[in-house]
Amino acid sequence: MNTLINKYNVPGPRYTSYPTVPFWQNEGFGEKAWLSSLTDTFRSTNTATGISLYIHLPYCESLCTFCGCNKRITKNHQVEKPYIEAVLKEWEMYLKYFSEKPQITEIHLGGGTPSFFAPEMLDLLINGIVKHANISTDYEFSFEGHPNNTSYQHLKTLYEVGFKRVSFGVQDYDPIVQKAIHRIQPFENVKQVTEWSRAIGYESISHDLVFGLPFQQISSIQDTISKTIELQPDRLAFYSYAHVPWIKGNGQRGFRDEDLPSAALKRQLYETGRTLFEENGYAEIGMDHFALPNDSMYKAMQNGTLNRNFMGYTTTQTKVLLGLGVSSISDSWAAFSQNVKDIDEYQTMIENDQLPILKGHILTDEDLTVRQQILDIMCQFATSWQDDEFSFEEKQVLFEKLEGFKQDGLLTYDENSLQVNPAGRPFIRNICMAFDKRMLQENTERKLFSQTV
Ligand SMILES: C[S@@+](CC[C@H](N)C(=O)[O-])C[C@H]1O[C@@H](n2cnc3c(N)ncnc32)[C@H](O)[C@@H]1O
Ligand code: SF4
Repeated sequence: MNTLINKYNVPGPRYTSYPTVPFWQNEGFGEKAWLSSLTDTFRSTNTATGISLYIHLPYCESLCTFCGCNKRITKNHQVEKPYIEAVLKEWEMYLKYFSEKPQITEIHLGGGTPSFFAPEMLDLLINGIVKHANISTDYEFSFEGHPNNTSYQHLKTLYEVGFKRVSFGVQDYDPIVQKAIHRIQPFENVKQVTEWSRAIGYESISHDLVFGLPFQQISSIQDTISKTIELQPDRLAFYSYAHVPWIKGNGQRGFRDEDLPSAALKRQLYETGRTLFEENGYAEIGMDHFALPNDSMYKAMQNGTLNRNFMGYTTTQTKVLLGLGVSSISDSWAAFSQNVKDIDEYQTMIENDQLPILKGHILTDEDLTVRQQILDIMCQFATSWQDDEFSFEEKQVLFEKLEGFKQDGLLTYDENSLQVNPAGRPFIRNICMAFDKRMLQENTERKLFSQTV
């Protein structure tokens, strides 16, 4: 196993999109092209599948020094209202371009920390969104809650406006790890918010755990996992710690590189987690996720309908994902667009009636083909292709890589398809990279990505 880890532990994307953000071609992109793609896909899919909304709520009261998310730390809650008003105005700006009333299938509030905002602000936000839309019968509204500041009233208010799913950031229960990542969070807080959610009626409660954090040991992760299992969340995200200290302002300098587990220990931490989850009835879903058999993500994996977008794995089948708020990414399936990353700039652009777009990418036919292949690998652990999808040279490179994976026992393949073996699952990002034509063509250093293991 260690040999494989050394071989495959290279920087690589997590494939929440293809092409991945560093490979977007912003030159061919503009607001007009983006809106044209968005409105086309909206028109052809709104009635059948509806749309998804991702809303980024960027504030946190305290900085966790491992965090790779786009956030701003403040204790000033006066920022809430102007921010919500800007998001609602952005939504109204987009509504003007839609040919009919949107049908919302999915809303996800991410962050930063959505529970930084007062319940009445979140109520204002959701009511301001849904009053312009129809809601699909099978809708899924979910939010990320911080166990240290999610109140009963947050959970109740959001439940009453349709939220049935919540994920809580747990990370790790070990006091030494918590101190290193500057996130002191007692088990009692997580227990309390989990029990409240269940009592209120939330159908799916998820906990986020991270392996590969500073000072983590096999024994400490075993303890974190046994505490987690005691609370029986329906879903678990078990993220590989992404050490990306070059992202400006993410505060990952709160510990030394030497305090991080080695690649081999990191893999053992993951294996320990996976074994314990599976022994306790959880099934592994795609990459990073586990679910109990009663959860819809488990069912989606069983019937081949699991999907993946910028928010991670999802059970919905929408083709339009509109990202509102600072730094949010939108996806029309044939184009991507990302909002500006600075809150002040975001708010100023909205005030000036400008869509707050920073950059984007229009997918070529080739991108669309590769996008589907990578999505299939990430969601179904298998994919297939036609002969004419690769040039002679591309095929040589692809089959050479596939043969290498096969020799290492990671997958089986034939002329037009591949199937990932259970042993290949930890290396799924590496397998996707064999299909990533943009990365292969540019042959770049890929320093912008975290390590795959
Ligand atoms: C936006 S946060 C969750 C909501 C809330 N801010 C909290 O911390 O509880 C989303 C999740 O991303 C994960 N995350 C953040 N930074 C990470 C990193 N560098 N590597 C891996 N996972 C990370 C954490 O598990 C975190 O719970
Ligand atoms: S982990 Fe959550 S609370 Fe901590 S800084 Fe990141 S977004 Fe904020």
